[in-house]
Amino acid sequence: MSDLAGKTVLITGGGSGVGAAMARAFADAGAKVIIAGRSEERLRQTAATHKLIATIVADVTDEQSVQAMFSAAGPCDIVIANAGASESAPFAKTSLNAWQRMIDVNLTGTFLTLREGLRQMPTPAGRLIAIASTAGLKGYAYVAPYAAAKHGIVGLVRSLALEVAKTNITVNAICPGFLNTEMTERSIANIVEKTGKTVDEARGSLSGLNPQQRLIEPSEVAETALWLCSDGARSVNGQAISVSGGET
Ligand SMILES: NC(=O)c1ccc[n+]([C@@H]2O[C@H](COP(=O)([O-])OP(=O)(O)OC[C@H]3O[C@@H](n4cnc5c(N)ncnc54)[C@H](OP(=O)(O)O)[C@@H]3O)[C@@H](O)[C@H]2O)c1
Repeated sequence: MSDLAGKTVLITGGGSGVGAAMARAFADAGAKVIIAGRSEERLRQTAATHKLIATIVADVTDEQSVQAMFSAAGPCDIVIANAGASESAPFAKTSLNAWQRMIDVNLTGTFLTLREGLRQMPTPAGRLIAIASTAGLKGYAYVAPYAAAKHGIVGLVRSLALEVAKTNITVNAICPGFLNTEMTERSIANIVEKTGKTVDEARGSLSGLNPQQRLIEPSEVAETALWLCSDGARSVNGQAISVSGGET
């Protein structure tokens, strides 16, 4: 297990799914963890699982809210922009509002979180991590705005990595395939509603995209994030790391 005692980690979207799994993994490694999101109740439930986890209510799409989040958190050595959301629709039926919602939460939210995270980063060995997606590396039908936003995160990370390269800060994206989380359960429900498939068939259509024929566990993403925060990963910078069983 990594030893992160003395480090402070801020994780957006830390109240559920991958964010909550990362919060518990970093707290188990001894770090002080701050989780942020819009739902106070959800954050509290995750914080109740470990004494090293604290909460801040914040909306990553709002610049002032993100600035207030970092003021309340104090100096953070590790910042993980994980908050995100997905919506699906045929491209020709995608409204400008739906497009904007996907860009706001997935791309602008990551921009604001990493920018403020970098501005306040106290240590020369800080870590910035964005949770992108395999949708940042390849296309999927019916989620063009989500995929565009996630591709945008990969471009942001690759560019920022060159700016911070002369410091000891690194910035990387983790690109998971379909995960065993609530977000995927919502996608499965949507497929059932739109196509008439059974729940098992819908789940199989997503897990079957992974050559290993399974959904990725949130703990696997957490382990990758922990490794990126180890000293041994100090030369890993500007990468989009696929955690997808070989899908990308
Ligand atoms: N599920 C998948 O198959 C999959 C695959 C690849 C990548 N990912 C990415 O992994 C990340 C985590 O996804 P997940 O599967 O763990 O989904 P999830 O359980 O739905 O978690 C998303 C989190 O983001 C928070 N959030 C959403 N909008 C926010 C906003 N405006 N401000 C602050 N927090 C916000 C949510 O909390 P509140 O609603 O309380 O704000 C929630 O805790 C996302 O970036 C997602 O795109 C997911």
